[in-house]
Amino acid sequence: MAKLSPSILAADFSKLGDQAVKASKAGADYLHIDVMDGHFVPNISFGAGVMKSLNKYETAPYDVHLMIEDVDKYAADFVTEKTEYITIHQEACTHLHRSIQHIHSLGVKAGVALNPATSIMTLENILDDIDLILVMSVNPGFGGQKFIPIALDKIEELDAIRAENNMGFLIEVDGGVDLDNSKAIVDAGCDILVAGSAVFGADDIRKRIKDFKRIIG
Ligand code: DX5
Ligand code: ZN
Repeated sequence: MAKLSPSILAADFSKLGDQAVKASKAGADYLHIDVMDGHFVPNISFGAGVMKSLNKYETAPYDVHLMIEDVDKYAADFVTEKTEYITIHQEACTHLHRSIQHIHSLGVKAGVALNPATSIMTLENILDDIDLILVMSVNPGFGGQKFIPIALDKIEELDAIRAENNMGFLIEVDGGVDLDNSKAIVDAGCDILVAGSAVFGADDIRKRIKDFKRIIG
């Protein structure tokens, strides 16, 4: 049974609280928090203050995706009572093992994201240290892009590696996820699907989440 993590990047920011509550009540397992710094990716989204403005609402826990350069400097800002995962990019970290240790020291779970061009072999030596691998199925920076199918091969490979080695990391997929491709993504071994425009772009957010949940189990 896979989980759904709607990305608030695609929400109407003028109604962020209402939309986050609506998505959570409809069955969203997490809220995906896409943080972009204009350096690691060619776009700026929002910072920890916007995420924290949701703390007073009853929402699903936060699944934070940091698309930023200086993760060691900013990760702590994203730790709240509702933060479950902080995911950082392999490509942004010179000392990835140290950054993962830093996130764990903050009391939250640590994820590592891989861009479409980055091989899963780059994580070979730290698979035991991470709680989640985020397979990017678009090049990060923007919502509403088209799913890159090579991501399915990566998910299958990761799923096989964790089965062979009895490992516990979760596999998350992010970018271009919609009702049409979500079954194939789950069948490949994905545990958490991120969907931005496919959820918040829908006329009826509640119904769209129910439709996703019916497909992904
Ligand atoms: C891309 C972000 C994704 C994206 C998802 O840089 O990390 O989370 O916003 O949005 P959709 O589902 O619209 O591709
Ligand atoms: Zn994301």
